[in-house]
Amino acid sequence: MVNFELLKRDGLARICQLTTKSGSIETPALLPVINPKINTITPRELKEDFGFGALITNSYIIKKHQDLNQQALAEGLHKMLDFDGIIMTDSGTFQSYMYGEVDLTNPEIVEFQKNIGTDIGTVLDIFTEPGWSEEKTKWAIEETLVRTEEACKLKGDMLINGVIQGSVYPELRTYCAEKMATMDIDVHPIGGVVPLMEQYRYAELVDVVMSSKMGINPSRPVHLFGAGHPMVLAFAALMGCDLFDSASYAKFARDDRMMFIDGTSRLKEMETLDCNCPACKDHTLESLRNLEKKEREKVIARHNLYQITKELETIKRYIREERLWELVEIRCRAHPAMLNGLRRFEEYIGFMELHDPISRNGAMFYTGPETYNRPVFERYHSRIMNRYVPYSDRAVLFSDSPGKPYSRSYSEEFHIARKNGYTPVVVTPFGPVPAELDEVYPLSQSLFPMNTDRETEERSLSLTMEFLDKYGFKETVKFENIEDTESMEYDGDLLRAKAVSSYQFGIPATKALFRGKIEFVKSRSNDRIRNVISDGEHILSMRAGDGLYTLKQEGAVRIAESIPSPFMRVAVNDDSVPYVSKGRNAFCQFVIGCDPGLRPMDEVIVTDRNDKVLATGRAMMTMKEIMSFKRGIAVKVRSGTSDEA
Ligand code: GUN
Ligand code: ZN
Repeated sequence: MVNFELLKRDGLARICQLTTKSGSIETPALLPVINPKINTITPRELKEDFGFGALITNSYIIKKHQDLNQQALAEGLHKMLDFDGIIMTDSGTFQSYMYGEVDLTNPEIVEFQKNIGTDIGTVLDIFTEPGWSEEKTKWAIEETLVRTEEACKLKGDMLINGVIQGSVYPELRTYCAEKMATMDIDVHPIGGVVPLMEQYRYAELVDVVMSSKMGINPSRPVHLFGAGHPMVLAFAALMGCDLFDSASYAKFARDDRMMFIDGTSRLKEMETLDCNCPACKDHTLESLRNLEKKEREKVIARHNLYQITKELETIKRYIREERLWELVEIRCRAHPAMLNGLRRFEEYIGFMELHDPISRNGAMFYTGPETYNRPVFERYHSRIMNRYVPYSDRAVLFSDSPGKPYSRSYSEEFHIARKNGYTPVVVTPFGPVPAELDEVYPLSQSLFPMNTDRETEERSLSLTMEFLDKYGFKETVKFENIEDTESMEYDGDLLRAKAVSSYQFGIPATKALFRGKIEFVKSRSNDRIRNVISDGEHILSMRAGDGLYTLKQEGAVRIAESIPSPFMRVAVNDDSVPYVSKGRNAFCQFVIGCDPGLRPMDEVIVTDRNDKVLATGRAMMTMKEIMSFKRGIAVKVRSGTSDEA
């Protein structure tokens, strides 16, 4: 079984550690393609100069070549290539797609890969082309499934690639992935996508990758077969692809083509060489053009590899900073076809929202109308429409303000509105923001340009109308039109405390949490709510960073007593009980059940198998991920006694 551990995530995108018998790599990672017959850059250079810990080569080419075949069998693939990192081999599928039938069988090529010491071998799958009919695709999937099952039996201690096929038919992709989820497969390449990428059909690429991801066992690495241009890597990583491979770095170099983050340029058409990578830095355009062919090819190949490694580092940085959406939105402006891809994410918003963290560190930046395809907008909309309890049946609308939170910039106005029986609602790019919720992530933790675009204006307005309609507000006025005549009593802190709880945990949980006398511990510096005390017990703490709650032990007990499992629960087995109850983290392999509605970073209640509360903490993963991963942290447990507020 593959050894794959989640270290850091940003939605579906993730940084993981992949370990094989030849060592470990951190993903997202790209495996340069080595043609065993042509060595533009040697495997040793790939490792020592560029830091590539894994590469991919083709076992079919080796098997067909008499000398290589014998050498590989005699001394092993690692010695033959002079590479002690991870070696993945492909099977001949791509050759059969390019040049017609290959004269070897699946068991033959799987056995051969095992015999030459490959770390990760590949089934002889059938390359399902974008132009194929549904019937033909279905047949190819069934045949690929049979061969994959066969390869799982033959693989021994070699890891095996189970390739997801299905042409451009999303249902067939999901079907193929679901069938493979129960097989003993280690890595999932998504296959048959090279023509889509060559033809810049990025919207269909999104269909293919997302529908595959929906069926794939999430604890296995996903490899996007043939994706090697730096331009597409961030985009693919956002969809949860972990591995890539590139033959283009060498193929393009052969044709004097240089890869850049925003496209590919032909050396003879370039006006300047604006690159200071280690390969280019001692060259001018002139000097590069004047190099002898072989030498030039090598410089360009090295340049191409530097572009790839640089982008991979950038992607990892953005994942660590939880800002990968921003990078992708920027990258997708390199070509209109990529914008097609970015816009297609709208179709997969539900799946993406399930994987999107409840809050992120730092503020989110708006980059343009495509930003509205991010799952945070979907989540806010669905929660405000389903988890809000209005304070009154009259609303006052306020326009968006750069001074956030709004309760600070409109503090006097909100007060006047409330004492006259109005609910203050700010019309924002997120849609309607009732005053009670203005500090919740990402409402206060977001930046939009001051002069808004038409999409933003139309969206703000139509979402606000939907909201006013849904909650049956009888009267909606502008602040200037309020007659300040009344002096109703209201408790702004209590309104906020309950509204945030409903938004975060739902209305039933809020009823369970808030009982008896409610008191607040507030920050002395800014008067914000810190702790919520109900009936004398500390049930919740509000975090300053994201305006959401940390659940305390007593709060957890109240929810567990009134709402049946699995709501907000992660249940662990008996072995884990002593550790978790002392405040140690809950690891995936000990979890026996959990809430299917968990989002990453959600507050959860860790229980034993009889639903006894052991601890509270934050989920690191979705249910499906927790139940699939065999290692890694499922819940970061907070010690029951220490107060984080
Ligand atoms: N290389 C590029 N695409 C594919 C594919 O679909 N299957 C295999 N085995 N290799 C590939
Ligand atoms: Zn360069």
